[in-house]
Amino acid sequence: MQEQMMTQNEAAMAVGVPADTPDAVKVLSVTHWTDRLFHFEVERPASFRFRSGEFVMIGLLKDDGRPLLRAYSIAVPFWSERLAFYSIKVEDGPLTSRLQHLQVGDHIIMKTKPTGTLVLDALLPGKRLYMIATGTGIAPFASLIRDPDVYEQYDDVILTHTCRDVAELAYGVQLVEDARQDPLIGEMAAGKLRHYPTTTREESAKMGRITTLMEEGTLFADLDVPPLNPETDRVMICGSMGLNNDVKAIIEAAGLEEGANSKPGTYVLEKAFVG
Ligand code: A2P
Repeated sequence: MQEQMMTQNEAAMAVGVPADTPDAVKVLSVTHWTDRLFHFEVERPASFRFRSGEFVMIGLLKDDGRPLLRAYSIAVPFWSERLAFYSIKVEDGPLTSRLQHLQVGDHIIMKTKPTGTLVLDALLPGKRLYMIATGTGIAPFASLIRDPDVYEQYDDVILTHTCRDVAELAYGVQLVEDARQDPLIGEMAAGKLRHYPTTTREESAKMGRITTLMEEGTLFADLDVPPLNPETDRVMICGSMGLNNDVKAIIEAAGLEEGANSKPGTYVLEKAFVG
């Protein structure tokens, strides 16, 4: 009886897909950052190619056996041997309520067709690159800040990350630290990458919504840079719909124009994906 109950519990907990499911990839590590945020690595299929900043569809199987997929930014640069994803845990979210229980050795589905606009190719050449992230919107920048092309193309790389509280900034702090220590891009990143973390609901060294900090000029004063200039400055934005729209309004007022893969511009944006 005991044994049978355990088996049932285990079955209820098993969230991965069978290893022979089409497009299955194996989970290599799982890190829980807070009760709302986690990160996991998966194996990289041998033939899979992507550009830093792109996203793919990942997911699990529904009870009826059909795939349940959501868009996730790939949180590692193009050269990484492993792939990684950073996710929120939504208690009643169809996918993340299950995904958060992944264990090492489980499999998930990953469609091998990367896409997205948060790529260097969608921006015109410039001098200073701003990466504006809120919450899990930092994931594509986890990729880009470890891409050597970013440092070859820009003199000054500024990653802003705004979260509700200090604990939610931890993943970004680690990423920036890793980039600066990285054997491949560490030296370039150490000289050019600047991190500007802020919180909105808990006391920290820097508080405030990034939109307010931009509108009031605090961001530029703190970084000791001139206000936004479409000649030299490029912006990538990744956050909630509201954040994206509000930052877009601010930077368009400064003269920046949205770019796309087919027509590069002076800024690009993508919605941070949530399950
Ligand atoms: P706030 O705490 O004032 O809502 P979330 O965890 O809800 O995705 O939010 C991540 C961060 O993004 C929070 O610090 C939140 O600030 C901020 N934020 C959400 N919407 C906007 C917006 N429209 N403009 C600027 N910041 C925003």
